[in-house]
Amino acid sequence: MRPLDPPLFSADQIARRVVELAHEIDADLEAKGRSGDLLLIAVLKGSVVFVADLMRGMATPVSIEFIRARGYEGTESSGNVELTYLPEQSVAGRNVLLVEDILDTGRTADVILQRLRAEGPAHLALCALLDKPSRREVEVEADYVGFTIDDFFVVGYGLDYNQQGRDWPAIHVLPE
Ligand code: IMP
Ligand code: MG
Repeated sequence: MRPLDPPLFSADQIARRVVELAHEIDADLEAKGRSGDLLLIAVLKGSVVFVADLMRGMATPVSIEFIRARGYEGTESSGNVELTYLPEQSVAGRNVLLVEDILDTGRTADVILQRLRAEGPAHLALCALLDKPSRREVEVEADYVGFTIDDFFVVGYGLDYNQQGRDWPAIHVLPE
């Protein structure tokens, strides 16, 4: 599969927006006196590229864990989300930022947030590179959003279509 030009967001546009987000998060943590010990939890696999850039754009020292949720086949959400990999450290008492590639129906983020909340983090926030609010089926709102988009299926910068396209530097609408 090859990207369809022009991209929805170019690599340069993404890079600029991710740095802005990183600074916004830094500023918030600073303002709220939480800049000491941030734990990023990145949702595999889609947010790997995003979190790599985000954490390097932040001045706040972070540690990183991963979580894996399955429940998406092709372009349709199955509505059924299973956690297949969990963070190695507990989030109890920690200041946590969950990092997602995209919020679609919201089911994945919802299940993960509930799971993390149950462990009793000191603070829990959500950052999503992309948000498709028109697709939402459960109530989930991100504290930080890179770009809000219409109901397109997008590929690149970590996001896949059947495991392809994660390596594309830009974000493209999936060719029909
Ligand atoms: P949700 O549970 O429906 O919110 O879907 C979230 C997950 O579905 C994301 O973490 C992505 O892995 C996948 N997903 C949703 N929309 C897209 C898209 O446009 N492109 C690629 N993956 C998507
Ligand atoms: Mg996916």
